[in-house]
Amino acid sequence: HSYPLPRKPGVQIPAVGFGVFQSADAYASALGALETGYRHLDTAEIYYSEPETGKAVSEFLAANPTLNRADIFICSKLWEVDLSLPGMPPTFESMGHPPPDGSGAWKTTAAKLGRTQYTTPDAIAGFTRSLEKMGPGIEYIDLYLLHNPRPGKQARVDAWLGLQEMEAQGKVRALGVSNWSKRHLEELVADARVTSPPTVNQIEFHPWCQQRELVEYCKQQGIVVVAYSPLAQGTRLGDPVVVEVAEKYGKTVAQVVLKWCLQSNVVIIPKSDNKKRMAQNMDLWGWELAEEDMEKINGLDGGIEARVGEWDPDAWE
Ligand code: A2P
Repeated sequence: HSYPLPRKPGVQIPAVGFGVFQSADAYASALGALETGYRHLDTAEIYYSEPETGKAVSEFLAANPTLNRADIFICSKLWEVDLSLPGMPPTFESMGHPPPDGSGAWKTTAAKLGRTQYTTPDAIAGFTRSLEKMGPGIEYIDLYLLHNPRPGKQARVDAWLGLQEMEAQGKVRALGVSNWSKRHLEELVADARVTSPPTVNQIEFHPWCQQRELVEYCKQQGIVVVAYSPLAQGTRLGDPVVVEVAEKYGKTVAQVVLKWCLQSNVVIIPKSDNKKRMAQNMDLWGWELAEEDMEKINGLDGGIEARVGEWDPDAWE
């Protein structure tokens, strides 16, 4: 079950991926996901799990000689500050981001961390580090994203031009963005040097955060929406509306939430450290939610604000 990327003919993205974020053991989770049947792994520089993700893919392929690199889809993302500079925090947790109090304290964090790496040479260097961290078995990345819009308009374009070079060299098959608004997308493609427009926008998306206008805009533009935190990080699985729908279909609440996402035509990247739940989260085919149940879940929108709204996208301009 894969979707074509309308803006990059020939590249397909598996509809169900696995998020290698905040795993207790990223290597074990990534390998477990591949063994369970996932063929799409989502990592990022800031998750500090690129080495573990690459290693899991290489070892999985070595153990399964009937499969090859082209059977696995790997996504990673460029963080807005250069995490390889001296004094950078060694883990996601130690960076204190996102700020636990939701106060926007990332600005202080960013100032402490140093300048943006959304420049053309730094984006190339950052991409190259991402690829190298995945190890010698991973010769290219399938999809590489600018992780968020924060550094500002000029920086977004500059970084994009670097990624376009990597794509032209065959080191990455498709490019995209994450946490971008309609305005950010429009501004980027308005620059005549942008010849390979974003193929995906990875955003927070689940029944309690539907971002309908943005999703609709992306669909119109042929930009595939990838839903992160499709299970709302496990925080709303007791919601009586989804509990009732799950009972009706004899499915788990997580499965109903993920199926609702799929039937909303987005790619999903649920996270789990547990092999049983990993299997459950990809057992989503051969059944359908009826329109009336889709509607009920549509009605849950609004409880959680998208992080793209919480982060001030122009803070560095
Ligand atoms: P765990 O890793 O222990 O399975 P999201 O993908 O939205 O970030 O959600 C991930 C959270 O949801 C994690 O806390 C994960 O816990 C939990 N989770 C993942 N799959 C399921 C499932 N099938 N049922 C219940 N909780 C799940």
